[in-house]
Amino acid sequence: MKIIHLTDTHLGYHDQKIYNRDPLPALEKAIKSINSEHSDAAMMVITGDLAHSGHPDAYQILHSALSKLTIPYHLVIGNHDDRAVISTLFPDFKLDEYGFAQKVIETEKGAFILLDSVEPGTHAGVYSSERFEWLQNKLTQYKKKPVYIFMHHAPFDTGIPAMDLISLDKQHSIKLGDMLESHGQVKHLFFGHYHRPIAGQWRGIAFSTLRGTNHQGVLDLYQSDVISACFEEPQYCVVLLEDDRTLVHYHDYMHVHDTFDLGSPTDAEM
Ligand SMILES: [Fe+2]
Repeated sequence: MKIIHLTDTHLGYHDQKIYNRDPLPALEKAIKSINSEHSDAAMMVITGDLAHSGHPDAYQILHSALSKLTIPYHLVIGNHDDRAVISTLFPDFKLDEYGFAQKVIETEKGAFILLDSVEPGTHAGVYSSERFEWLQNKLTQYKKKPVYIFMHHAPFDTGIPAMDLISLDKQHSIKLGDMLESHGQVKHLFFGHYHRPIAGQWRGIAFSTLRGTNHQGVLDLYQSDVISACFEEPQYCVVLLEDDRTLVHYHDYMHVHDTFDLGSPTDAEM
């Protein structure tokens, strides 16, 4: 099964520049690229920071742009977002019984569990006791199925210290790790927030994240007092979920390049 992972669109209200750039054209190009190259994908998941400052007009612009996408999509909330505004505009943006934007999507490859790690007033991630209760129930309900987790914040430090100061609360991270590890069937964790391509494993769970569609984070493993940003190429990930493996292909869809043939793969002279 193929899915698309996109993140951190950071849309503004009409004509609002985000760090001196209009974020909409890069999202529109992503949608065009997905429609032409990956219309066979089962869905796209956007892992948060949909709007830069939670402005209602930004979500209207997002809604309008996504109406051109030919595959279904699902939204995760990020620290720049407004839960109430999104839920009024997007019927699929479901709130759980405690009012958090969490839900399960059942697929042919297992359960996709979308988590809400947002707390108003802070850019850092929080996973409160009600959310843990909800997640425990879902992991129990889907205990015999593969599970794929989607969230905005990384639930662990990545080695980029300025961003790690606003990753998931460190105590909540340990608790979440214990819970996911004990399920034993969490195949992959997808997140956003870092605006950088990072992949690896945490507590035995494979993970990946990627650049946003507007601005990116610099690979800075030293500085902790300021978050450095830049305009590297936007990406989306083409994710192939197989029974025995998960493949994450990073696509710099705005990169302009010529292609050339290397020859036949079976040609010994290649
Ligand atoms: Fe972001």
